[in-house]
Amino acid sequence: MVTEDEAMRRAIALAVRGLGTTSPNPVVGEGFHAYAGGPHAEIVALAQAGELARGGTAVVSLEPCNHTGRTGPCAQALIRAGVRRVVIAVDDPTHVAAGGAATLRGAGVQVETGVRRREAEQGNVAWLTAVRRGLPFVTWKFAATLDGRSAAADGTSQWITSAPARADVHTLRGTMDAIVAGVGTVIADDPQLTVRDLRDGTLAITQPLRVVLDSAGRTPAKARVRDAAAPTWIVTTAEVGSGPDGRVDLHALLAALFGRGIRSVLLEGGPTLAGAFLAAGLVDQVIGYVSPKLLGAGKAALQDAGVTTIDEAIELDLTDITQIGPDLRFTASLRQKPSDHPAHHPNSEWKGF
Ligand SMILES: NC(=O)c1ccc[n+]([C@@H]2O[C@H](COP(=O)([O-])OP(=O)(O)OC[C@H]3O[C@@H](n4cnc5c(N)ncnc54)[C@H](OP(=O)(O)O)[C@@H]3O)[C@@H](O)[C@H]2O)c1
Repeated sequence: MVTEDEAMRRAIALAVRGLGTTSPNPVVGEGFHAYAGGPHAEIVALAQAGELARGGTAVVSLEPCNHTGRTGPCAQALIRAGVRRVVIAVDDPTHVAAGGAATLRGAGVQVETGVRRREAEQGNVAWLTAVRRGLPFVTWKFAATLDGRSAAADGTSQWITSAPARADVHTLRGTMDAIVAGVGTVIADDPQLTVRDLRDGTLAITQPLRVVLDSAGRTPAKARVRDAAAPTWIVTTAEVGSGPDGRVDLHALLAALFGRGIRSVLLEGGPTLAGAFLAAGLVDQVIGYVSPKLLGAGKAALQDAGVTTIDEAIELDLTDITQIGPDLRFTASLRQKPSDHPAHHPNSEWKGF
């Protein structure tokens, strides 16, 4: 007999499997929500349980949705299946889908919320952060030598880290809705910015949107980001407007991406774009792959992040350190100030399920 607590731990672990393919919807557990437009976790689980669901307990990492979007409301499906009790980790923060718990209670179903909330929030942090404020969750990823260089003096940078670390980046990309780079990186390195198997180049079935920030449209006609391997958006100031420096307005860009259903962004640009995102307070998480090499010259991993004195250093909380082959991967979250992001307005571009 599985306890409710064990079931919740499993629900949270299952939910993470949907990362990268469920947006604009959240990853939710119990069965799991595998792709946007596909059945939500509850529906998958109910189908598996069949008649056994009657009189049973459903354990879910996110409050069952209460509205009809691309799929029907899960709260109603649970009621129809005769579920007696529903255990929920996190309340749904979206105004369109919230209210499932109230609907269930109204139908006489026993509901308990907040079970293992912190763990469930952690597993779903990008989606929850994004929908709460109406802007995607941004992870800045970089590779650097031990002395903090992201390219050698001659501009070469592609092989800073080892093959296992580069493979890990592809796994990371696969959990994201969009990959963002600056035109500087596109011109210097001509990256493809896809999710693929590095041994034979096989492309993953689901590809994040490739986004190139290119104020004046300098992306070369033959750039690999323009190939057919994945969708691409080359963003000029004419499309989303310009910031005070005359370049692509980063806040407007993120709002536009949110409007397109993007909830998580991997920023893979060079030091200029990373500095601009950090200076604007638009980065949530940093993942640094650090290789035990020294260059002594060449581009720093980060430039012009708006810091001039040590008191202004951008402070991070380390959440993970993992050795990958000969390299180290540091994961850290930014200490966000409440003023960094606009409050999420319930009527902003949220598109729903
Ligand atoms: N090791 C690593 O992790 C890593 C990763 C990526 C790149 N790199 C290296 O970095 C170097 C390229 O550096 P980079 O700094 O030129 O690349 P970048 O940061 O990717 O691109 C910078 C360009 O982005 C455009 N941009 C558009 N909107 C912007 C905004 N709001 N703020 C800032 N920039 C904006 C600007 O060009 P416009 O003004 O024309 O729009 C700017 O010059 C290469 O040597 C590459 O190998 C290393």
